[in-house]
Amino acid sequence: MNILIVEDDLMTLRLLEAHLKSWGHTVHTAVDGAAAWEALHSAPVDMVVTDWMLPKMNGLELCRKIRTEFTDGYVYLIIASSLDSRQDMIHGLESGVDDYVTKPFDFDELRARIANGGRIVLLEQALNRRYKQSQTTYFQTLHMFASLMEVFNEGLGGHCRRVSRLAMSLARRHGRIPVDQMHTVEAAGLLHDVGMVGMPAAVLFKKKVEMTGDERSDYQAHPIHGEMILSEVEYLRPIAQIVRAHHEQFNGRGFPDGLAGMFIPLISRIIAAADAYDHMVHQGGQSLEQIPELLQTQRGYQLDPELVDLLIDINALHIQEEADRDFVEVAMEDLTEGMVLAQNIRRKNSALLMPALTELTAYGIEKLKTYRKLANISPHISIYKHSVRR
Ligand SMILES: [Fe+2]
Repeated sequence: MNILIVEDDLMTLRLLEAHLKSWGHTVHTAVDGAAAWEALHSAPVDMVVTDWMLPKMNGLELCRKIRTEFTDGYVYLIIASSLDSRQDMIHGLESGVDDYVTKPFDFDELRARIANGGRIVLLEQALNRRYKQSQTTYFQTLHMFASLMEVFNEGLGGHCRRVSRLAMSLARRHGRIPVDQMHTVEAAGLLHDVGMVGMPAAVLFKKKVEMTGDERSDYQAHPIHGEMILSEVEYLRPIAQIVRAHHEQFNGRGFPDGLAGMFIPLISRIIAAADAYDHMVHQGGQSLEQIPELLQTQRGYQLDPELVDLLIDINALHIQEEADRDFVEVAMEDLTEGMVLAQNIRRKNSALLMPALTELTAYGIEKLKTYRKLANISPHISIYKHSVRR
């Protein structure tokens, strides 16, 4: 095990170090709390054996700091003190210390207590590995869902991935989503339209005002279908609730429940905002410069005003990024002769179909359209700005 000894008395420190090394441990040392805190961040440490009485930060304060602020795995804490009172021991254990030994050291006892702690450290490490594995499986499952949506409809899959990314940026800027909830934001973004799977392609991206009565009721049922699909998996149930509410409107005129304002879960409001933005840019065909005005019309109606402000900030960044880029995305049907490819055109298995820097001819454009049909390449092609005729 990797053990950090914190002891200001150098004689005791060297004695402890010699014993622990002879028991087969890797030993790090520090002479006060501040140095110990630094050592924790510069080498792997499984266990800390610290004296109670230390200069600057005492042993108990150090243990409390490790318990509350050290997030890089569980560190087993043993505090040593010549204060042989039951009250001190209880006080130490209540502060997050795992074990308590009295000074002067009984080295047989210390060895047994360290071995005991070692078993807990091993269990904790095994648990941690399992947790990481289950987190990986969780995200792999979510991405599999998104891929299935992509197979069902490429546009829907792309929309969900973009909404997920934008929802994450909104959540980070919002600042009131706890870090451990960020994966829920990502998942809810990826899966918010899972209830659309199975809908006729003609209805999927139809404008609401053009829908027939039946189409509208089918469409308005998709948050409930999504909730039902996700509720079947226990660990997706919190996401199911968020998905149910992603078409609620801030003014209470959304569906399916007509929730308003703060009664709509915050993550659902975030998904709704990202969803609306994505529709404006990718379906409505609005330029980024037009977006702020459009968003303002939704402030307090469809969307949470606070999120409208954040979307406008993010949109300004997108405008800047677009200005800094030397290429633009051109739809397949708008390609003209003389345009120069800014990126390689590849099949999904990454085989190269047409290299970057190719100047398009009428024949080249026809070839790209054929690749679109046969190899399912993107309907948008990256073209160098300088080659686009205004
Ligand atoms: Fe939706």
